[in-house]
Amino acid sequence: MTVPHSKNSYMPLAVPLYGEEFAADPGSIYTRLRAFGPVAPVEISPGVSAYLVTDRQAAMELLNDTETWAKDPRAWESGLPPESPVRPMLGWRPNALFNDGQAHRRYRSVITDSLSRVEPHRLRQQVADIADGLIREFGATGEADLVVQYARPLPLILFNAMFGMPEEDGPRLVAALGGMFDAKPENAIKANEDFSQYMTELITLKSQKRGEDLTSWFMDHPAGLSTDELAAEVVLTMAAGQEPTTNLISNSLSRMLSNPDYYSTLSNGALTAYDAVDDVLRNEPPMANYSAHFPRANVHFHGTWIPANALVLVSYHAANTTPDDLLTGGGNSSPLSGSSEPRSDGGAHLAWSAGPHACPAKQPALLVAVTAIERLTSHLGDLELAVPREQLQWRPGPFHRALSHLPAHFTPITPQKTGVTPWSSPSSSTRQAGTSTESPWPSGSAGPRPVSYSPGM
Ligand code: HEM
Repeated sequence: MTVPHSKNSYMPLAVPLYGEEFAADPGSIYTRLRAFGPVAPVEISPGVSAYLVTDRQAAMELLNDTETWAKDPRAWESGLPPESPVRPMLGWRPNALFNDGQAHRRYRSVITDSLSRVEPHRLRQQVADIADGLIREFGATGEADLVVQYARPLPLILFNAMFGMPEEDGPRLVAALGGMFDAKPENAIKANEDFSQYMTELITLKSQKRGEDLTSWFMDHPAGLSTDELAAEVVLTMAAGQEPTTNLISNSLSRMLSNPDYYSTLSNGALTAYDAVDDVLRNEPPMANYSAHFPRANVHFHGTWIPANALVLVSYHAANTTPDDLLTGGGNSSPLSGSSEPRSDGGAHLAWSAGPHACPAKQPALLVAVTAIERLTSHLGDLELAVPREQLQWRPGPFHRALSHLPAHFTPITPQKTGVTPWSSPSSSTRQAGTSTESPWPSGSAGPRPVSYSPGM
């Protein structure tokens, strides 16, 4: 059987999804891809081919059809070079993301049951405190890179606390996981080693003494994870949470800071942080293309023959932004999308994926992103982009929609301005009338040993 990562084996027209061209203007690449129909041939790394589903209805079908499609990548992966740069995102691990059926349900239950124990009001306060600490570091300077100094460290400091590591270890996690986005390979290798060390210490610590934290709850879950499974589940939850949450915060901020509608008042209908987040989820989803699936047998899918075990990805971005004339049902609708016609599905989108592997952390992730944005914009009332949005740089890569940097400036805040600065005001003063401070979240055993970890998602 042919596996789909030998270049030109059966997809000679594959369109590259890596590199500067795609990062600079993914919309025009999706337009090119749509010319192939609902399924298009792409390259996700030099020599690594895949099929990309760009049509919303085809995507929904695939995501909900577990008989035809598997998540286990091992048959496909067996032909992938060991050093392939896509292996960390696509290689099998004993966790929820890469398994099917009962194995998937077992792994997923550990994550969903543990997340359900996180108390929304406590989480909101934790995010507010972390946000204040970060703002405190750059508030007096009048300028900041809101990716590097805010949106990237914030979820990592939060995860350090949620997984039960002491506060002083937060900067280590920021340097390690955050450092993996460094363009210099030697820095990324060092960051990977540091992350493995952090993980080993975390599991050792929690094996010795449980606490009120996700790691302890994973360890004591009735699923009875082995050490390898525990590590894979912790790494998945951290990695799956970090990158898209960073992108959700920074992509939303970039839209808010370049759109005067966010600076209006209640009387003329100001848009809120939640609107910006919603706009990003629909029109620029933080996970742009992912959801790796593999047909269990040769399949004819929406006009394309796909061989068994080929890599098939779903483009959440392309599916969400399918032009009206190509829509077979549903689509996007947002206060900022320019579309006044509500779609037949009420404006649902695929930013959280769908089906059994849909994001299990949608509510906490929304709470984190909205709280982080509200906190920043309420403390720094005149925050502005330092360059026009069109000049912002986007990180290359097939899977994410991620800003490299988000330079901004503002009137420096000082400790003397009591009541409005993060030094003195734990209360949420809102810059934008109409910005909600209500929770968007409906109230709703293993022993230690050194392991090598790679973040995975
Ligand atoms: C607290 C933050 C988050 C955590 C802990 C988290 C965790 C996870 C986990 C564990 C999975 C795998 C589920 C499974 O395979 O059964 C997942 C999937 C997913 N998450 Fe999240 N997530 C977070 C934030 C986000 C954000 C902000 C987005 C983007 C809007 C997002 C989008 C997705 C998508 C699209 C999937 C499907 C994965 C795929 O494409 O294969 N997540 N998430």
